[in-house]
This record gives sequence, structure tokens and C-alpha cells, in this order.
Amino acid sequence: MKNTAVTFQEAKQKGEKLSMLTAYDYSTAKLIDEAGVNAILVGDSLGMVVLGYEDTLSVTMEDMIHHSAAVSRGIKDTLLITDMPFMSYQTSVYDAVVNAGRLVKEGHAQAVKLEGGKEVCPQIRAIVDASIPVCAHIGLTPQSINAFGGFKVQGKGEEAAQKLLDEARAVEEAGAFAVVLECVPKALATKITESINIPTIGIGAGAGCDGQVLVYQDMLAMYSDMKPKFVKQYAQIGDQMREAFRAYKQEVADGTFPAEEHTFKMDEGIIDRLY
Ligand code: KIV
Repeated sequence: MKNTAVTFQEAKQKGEKLSMLTAYDYSTAKLIDEAGVNAILVGDSLGMVVLGYEDTLSVTMEDMIHHSAAVSRGIKDTLLITDMPFMSYQTSVYDAVVNAGRLVKEGHAQAVKLEGGKEVCPQIRAIVDASIPVCAHIGLTPQSINAFGGFKVQGKGEEAAQKLLDEARAVEEAGAFAVVLECVPKALATKITESINIPTIGIGAGAGCDGQVLVYQDMLAMYSDMKPKFVKQYAQIGDQMREAFRAYKQEVADGTFPAEEHTFKMDEGIIDRLY
């Protein structure tokens, strides 16, 4: 069954948990789709795990469109949500609608995600009015890393917790079909989940959310620059890749690769007649 913004809302009503993973390329997207994961997020985490930046701030619209289009070619049933990069929507409501439209037209996104609470509600409303579903993102919003002073858990104190709950209600009211809660204490994420009618998708927000999202390089142990506490490593693919690359290097060096079964044959009499 095709996952859509509508089926996401139905899942919340039925109490069905939603799974989401990031992807940035065709082959990975195809594997995730085949595994039946509900949504792929072409996250601006692309900047860190694919492009090697220290944070997500340098990611451009062109980066997001390029990778979103690649992912779109690999999926059938998975909902494709693409991140709006830093400064593609903060600048104005007009920019937000134009850039969300580009992610749909050129990147084939089926929904867009943007970071922020009350301050981006006019943008959410306008994008939704343009018939583009919006997933909101509150809590630790990496595009505000400089304002936060680092990757820190959000909403621990009473005032901060109330602010996050108010923001969740505000983005729902603005028309978001789902909201990502990043690095929020479990009890607060559960309270938010029970207080709004759109699905909450948690990352570092505990099991009380309606769904979960992880960066796929984190859950496969392929990205070693940082390992957040909330990441569960489901496989050691990084180790397996390094081992395979070493074995390849060794076999090239000692001449055991390529073997006969990897080579093409011809009538070798032709070789003898060459001059
Ligand atoms: O960019 C991203 O991958 C994200 C997830 C971590 C939610 O926003």
C-alpha cells in the first residue's frame, strides 16, 4: 500500500506505529522501500553523512533536489519527504512556497519537512495551501545549532517543555500532517503525542511517539564522526565495508582478483594474428 500524508494520519488514529529512515541515493532507497519502511526522509543530514560538512547549514536547494530525485527513482510504496535546507524558507513565506514547489517539481518529493515552531507557521500554512504536505520538526533543530550552542536535549525545564508543547500544537494548527520531535525527554514527547492529532515521529524522543526516524548511516554504523545516545546500531556495516575494501586491495595487489570467472573470453587465435 502506498504511504501518503493521509495514511500517516490514519495510522495515528488506528494506533499503528510509523517507521522512517533517511536515504540520499537510489540503491539505498530501493532497499528501504523493499523493507516496507513507511517513509524515507531525504534529510539535510545529507550535509554531514554524505557531503562531510560539520553541520547541516551549508546544504543547498540544488543538493536536496539532486538527492531527492535519485531517491524518488528507487521507491514505490514509501512516502518521500524531503528536507527544506537552511535559508530556503526562513527568509520569507514566498521563498518557502517557491522552494517547497521546487522540491516537489524537480526533486519529486511527496512532502517537505522544515524546522521550527510558531515562527515558521506562516510558511507551513502557505505551503499546505499550495497542496504540498508539510512535516514539521521541533525540539533539537540542527539548522539552529549556532543559536542552541551545540547538539543538546531540548525541553527539560518547565518553561522549555511548555514552549515545545505549544509549538507542537501550533504546527498542527498551521496544517502540518506530522511532526518530528528530536532530542526531547521521553515523558515530554509522550505528553505531546497524546496532546495532538497528527503523528509524532521521534528521534531521541522515546517510545511514546507515534513513529521513529533514524539516519541510516547511524543505524548501520557507517558514520563514525559522532554516535548520539539515541542511536541503535542494527548492523556493523561500516566494519564490513572496511573489511571488504581491504580484501579487494589485497587481492588486486596479489593478483587473485580478477579471477577467470570475472573475465571475458574470445577466440585467442585472433590475438596470435595481431601484429
Ligand atoms: O536531516 C535529517 O536527517 C533529519 C532527521 C534527523 C530527523 O532531520
